[in-house]
Amino acid sequence: MIRIALAGYGTVGQGVMDLFHRRKNSLQTRVGKKVDIYYVLVRDENKAREIDLHGAKLTSDAWEIISDESVQVLMEATGDIDLGYVLIREALKRKKHVITANKSVLSRHFEELSDLAEEHGVYLLYEASVGGGTPLMKPLQDLSLHGEIRSLRGLLSGSCNYVLTRMRRDQISYDDVVEEAKELGYLEADPIDDVGGFDTRRKLRILATLAFQGKVEEKDISLEGISGLVQEDISLLSQMGYAVRLLAQARRDGHRIQAAVHPVALPHASFLGSMDGADNGVEFYGENFLRVSFQGSGAGRYPTAHAMLADLEDVLFNLRRKESPLRKTHLFHDPFEVPSRFYVRSTAPLEIALETQLKEDTWLTAPIPYSEVKSLLPPGAVAIPIEK
Ligand SMILES: NC(=O)c1ccc[n+]([C@@H]2O[C@H](COP(=O)([O-])OP(=O)(O)OC[C@H]3O[C@@H](n4cnc5c(N)ncnc54)[C@H](OP(=O)(O)O)[C@@H]3O)[C@@H](O)[C@H]2O)c1
Repeated sequence: MIRIALAGYGTVGQGVMDLFHRRKNSLQTRVGKKVDIYYVLVRDENKAREIDLHGAKLTSDAWEIISDESVQVLMEATGDIDLGYVLIREALKRKKHVITANKSVLSRHFEELSDLAEEHGVYLLYEASVGGGTPLMKPLQDLSLHGEIRSLRGLLSGSCNYVLTRMRRDQISYDDVVEEAKELGYLEADPIDDVGGFDTRRKLRILATLAFQGKVEEKDISLEGISGLVQEDISLLSQMGYAVRLLAQARRDGHRIQAAVHPVALPHASFLGSMDGADNGVEFYGENFLRVSFQGSGAGRYPTAHAMLADLEDVLFNLRRKESPLRKTHLFHDPFEVPSRFYVRSTAPLEIALETQLKEDTWLTAPIPYSEVKSLLPPGAVAIPIEK
């Protein structure tokens, strides 16, 4: 008998329970053992739930599930950074395999938890933490094994992409789309984590650390969200053939790294420029495999649950390497310098080399490094790099 403890019974946790029970017979037949979700951990045991517990024991006592030696796998979907960290750390120390969707915990404690898993000979898998239902982690771990990856770039916030798509396609103001996205459940009541780019930066920290085989922390990634953009910026750039995206990007030159999350104008016809709606997409560029791209659901109950259950299969069938996929390459972090032409909107005078005037307060610049534009920009001005 393999016993699983499921921590969190919200959007993702209930999806895990539902899908697990739909697949349980087939899974047990293939594994040749009984497999069950034995505990479900929640904050409020009296809250009504949509999905039946299928006989699992509901508890709000985290230590009950951690201290139970018969539990072999922890599936963590609480979203709580403090509890999630303690649960994962203590489970690994007790030789329980861990599957988590919690990118906040991973971003903060990635190296420590990966080392702990290796030390105790158990799995730490996190396919659902970045890209939701889009398989990224498993292929990335394979692609990065031989230090192949030179750069990566992606759209890692379905909600930001939804906002930017609606602003361009339907010419709706930023404030109106954000309100709509809150009503649809794409954005939290306080949307700053998404529209400020913080959520995307956490995901880039995880992807880049895996890709470049050394530590890339949130502080190493320059950040700008989408809340300063207005509908007119999006429309003008669209008329010129570009879609504005919140782009996460990181590149390596030897041991030197540059990484950023910021709004970028991409050609409509490009892979990421054409990706309208709430999908996530990532491109990896490598020495020998050249370019590999992924696109899929970045969130949602069933796509995310599916990703966690794909990890569960790998645990049960022992299909992955148990050594930490993180290497200890010492990386040097430079400001994001890649030169581009910029779309600039400013009511104050600009000390930047301007090339073309688009409107009274809007210009295109000559190619300039990103960090230089940012240092010369007056308060309230907007600068969007235009990429090929
Ligand atoms: N939602 C998505 O589409 C998605 C996609 C990818 C990754 N993720 C990640 O998946 C995780 C879960 O997200 P979610 O959307 O399912 O969250 P959610 O709907 O808010 O559910 C969180 C669950 O965790 C429980 N919980 C939270 N703090 C707890 C605590 N201190 N003690 C005990 N239980 C606690 C809650 O209990 P109560 O129900 O009693 O309040 C709830 O059942 C997060 O890390 C998120 O980033 C989510």
